[in-house]
Amino acid sequence: MSEVKLEDIVSLAKRRGFIFPGSDVYGGLSGTWDYGPLGVQLKRNIMQLWWKMFVDNRDDMLGVEAAILMNQKVWQASGHVETFTDPLVECANCHNRFRADKIDTSKCPSCGKEGTFGEPRQFNMMFKTHIGPIDDVPQLTKVGGSAEIITPKDDPSLVYLRPETAQGIFTNFKNVVDTSYPDVPFGIAQQGKAFRNEISPRDFVFRSREFEQMEIEYFVHQDKWEEAFEMWVKLIHEWCEALGLPKGSVHELEVPESDRAHYSKRTIDFEFDFPIGREELLGLAYRTDFDLKNIERVSGKSMEYRPKDGSTPFVPHVIEPSFGVERALMAVLTSAYTEDEVNGEKRIYLKLPYNLAPVKVAVCPLAKNNEQLVAKAREIYANLKKEFGSVLWIDSGNIGKNYRKMDEIGVPYIVTVDFDTLEGDTKDTVTVRHRDTTKQDRTQIANLLTALNGA
Ligand code: GAP
Repeated sequence: MSEVKLEDIVSLAKRRGFIFPGSDVYGGLSGTWDYGPLGVQLKRNIMQLWWKMFVDNRDDMLGVEAAILMNQKVWQASGHVETFTDPLVECANCHNRFRADKIDTSKCPSCGKEGTFGEPRQFNMMFKTHIGPIDDVPQLTKVGGSAEIITPKDDPSLVYLRPETAQGIFTNFKNVVDTSYPDVPFGIAQQGKAFRNEISPRDFVFRSREFEQMEIEYFVHQDKWEEAFEMWVKLIHEWCEALGLPKGSVHELEVPESDRAHYSKRTIDFEFDFPIGREELLGLAYRTDFDLKNIERVSGKSMEYRPKDGSTPFVPHVIEPSFGVERALMAVLTSAYTEDEVNGEKRIYLKLPYNLAPVKVAVCPLAKNNEQLVAKAREIYANLKKEFGSVLWIDSGNIGKNYRKMDEIGVPYIVTVDFDTLEGDTKDTVTVRHRDTTKQDRTQIANLLTALNGA
């Protein structure tokens, strides 16, 4: 388990504007989170790094962005309507509901009464909604004395919010093959929202009801699935390294058959030492031809791939690396959260990898009422902003406090413009303070971009 405490991360995230509880002003909405100015930037940096590493930098990957709302047949064919369930128990005393596999069911964790739980029932985690004019929404029908919605089969307006982005890839497999003509093996990547009506959302963003996934379906010939699987094991470790996660904090768990998802013949969970313990960060699964074959069965359309060399057509098998953005973000914050001592005072800072830092540089004029100094600082700020985008201007408060604030949000460099910038031997130089060491260098303004870019 990480030595960092979850409450320290949650507190920093709220204090500095990374992550807030969803609908906070109205008392919140369980399992939802809102990203503030720094959080959205950090999240995007993680997602962009992923896209660059797994799509832009490779020759065998293509991207898609499918609609979140999909025909309900997608989820019937994929098995989610039948099997995407968690075991639910309800306490007969306080009526609180829990995931049966996450608690000791002999005693209610809420009211403390013993023997109040009955047999678990399977609860489907997909959110349902209806598409089309309100008149088409089916009425409640009486079945066996209790009111129930008529079954999905009979309700053409029923749609599910997707519980995984993967199906948007599978359903576009033929479209992509027929328009981009990739050679097998190749992958299709997608990033986007997924929704699960988790029985017990918990542990900050770790288990949310609305979250974001980054998924790849990597299509291979059946005979080649093992080598592709091994390739993805290596690539996943490279990804964890790029996020700045210490090597010893990521662990592979070979998931036994009894715990694997209904579609998987082999799964490795990549676990991370979160503040809440060792838990799943992301997953790698061998989905066989399960999904493409299901699409063939339900849609009646062929999912065969025809090799360009004229060899026998086949339905590809699939290796699926599946990444959760929130868990990556939580692992990044856990790894980056550092406490040390500077001049006898405790300091908290985020040791974020440079490319993930939401703010790359802060520019600080030492005196805000000196016109010449402020003008020089503004000029430097404008140039840095053109290059780095996310640059902060800080001209209020005490410099020491500003340093602490910038450290807490993980700003790698602070450029200070002082009176020595304006005259004497040091004319046209600034100080650059380094977050991790707190050391300061005097740097020529002309060399600033190179100095900061060479981070
Ligand atoms: N397409 C395969 C799939 O969705 P999964 O193991 O159910 O597999 C993949 O989910 C990843 O999505 C997980 O490893 C995790 O990072 C993330 N994830 C799943 N449920 C989540 C939740 N409720 N909140 C946040 N992230 C979640």
